[in-house]
Amino acid sequence: MKRGEYASRGPVPQEVISAKEFELPSLGEGQVLIEVLASPINPSDVLTLTGEYGMLPPLPAVGGNEGVGRVATLGPQTDAWAIGELVLLPIGSGTWTTHMVADAQRLIALPPQGDPLQLSMLSVNPPTALLMLREFVDLQPGDWVIQNAANSAVGGYLVQIAASRGLKTVNIVRRKSAVDAVKASGAEHVLVDGDDLHERVAELTSGAKIRLGIDAVGGMASERLARCLGQAGTMVNYGGMSGEPCMLSPATFVFRDLHLRGFWLAQWFRTATPEKQFAVFRELALQVAQGELKARIQATYGIDQIRDAVAAAAGDERDGKIVLEPNKG
Ligand SMILES: NC(=O)c1ccc[n+]([C@@H]2O[C@H](COP(=O)([O-])OP(=O)(O)OC[C@H]3O[C@@H](n4cnc5c(N)ncnc54)[C@H](OP(=O)(O)O)[C@@H]3O)[C@@H](O)[C@H]2O)c1
Repeated sequence: MKRGEYASRGPVPQEVISAKEFELPSLGEGQVLIEVLASPINPSDVLTLTGEYGMLPPLPAVGGNEGVGRVATLGPQTDAWAIGELVLLPIGSGTWTTHMVADAQRLIALPPQGDPLQLSMLSVNPPTALLMLREFVDLQPGDWVIQNAANSAVGGYLVQIAASRGLKTVNIVRRKSAVDAVKASGAEHVLVDGDDLHERVAELTSGAKIRLGIDAVGGMASERLARCLGQAGTMVNYGGMSGEPCMLSPATFVFRDLHLRGFWLAQWFRTATPEKQFAVFRELALQVAQGELKARIQATYGIDQIRDAVAAAAGDERDGKIVLEPNKG
């Protein structure tokens, strides 16, 4: 049994983590042993290793926030699960591991026909995309939404979910080389960021009033996105990929009465009722299992390659997610 462990944090994330052997604790009542099949490396995982994320586990810690596995062994008096069932791992449970012991009641059953690699990315990015589209502005079919970092996994899910709701999206990327991949993932309108973005967007949408802008970049990219919004539009920031504070000029912000909001899924988990959370996961799990919602995957790695995997995830210009398959040789 091996897992990706770290005992300190530092600016080069792959240098603080390594694959270590560990002993499994014996199973208690109501617990199951899970063989982990897949777990992605998200930007928040990288920020957790560098110490820049909004919530940090005590050290030493096991990396990884989400993933899927199969039930391998049942503990005493545990009959809610069958051996071999595909399950969603508890969020935040240190998922970069070949095996884990979990409380049976914290597991969520997944459709058995689903692709474990795609299902491993279910807990974080699909609900983020869905909730940002749903919780801030009462959008109607035919409305436009604009987002940057459209080449991200969240960006891809947002395009797919928006299309299924009859919404039109303007998708901004930071480099020309990403345009074709974002279009191939289903986005009709993809523009490269730049100072004249608002003019190109107005031409594309024939001047339609855009009521929702979704920003994962910060810095001047926030201002360029905000300039594309209509009067009293809402901009939701959910990430800071540029590493810079969101910039907004008073002329953009004040004269057009823009609303600036933040979204953090961790906060939604704290406040949404269990029923509401279950409804969101049920809806999204079915869509992922049926292949209606998916994200591009650049490469998969075994647990022994954890450092290479983290370096690839932290690197620039990826063409999809880095996913660990911890038990892969
Ligand atoms: N608030 C929340 O609850 C929440 C939940 C989920 C995710 N997030 C955040 O959402 C963002 C996207 O996550 P993800 O997992 O979808 O990401 P991802 O698939 O790993 O993709 C990262 C994206 O960021 C872009 N990027 C990197 N550096 C950039 C820069 N300096 N300027 C502009 N774009 C840059 C990349 O563009 P290239 O392709 O050009 O490299 C890529 O499109 C992250 O900031 C993440 O932390 C937040």
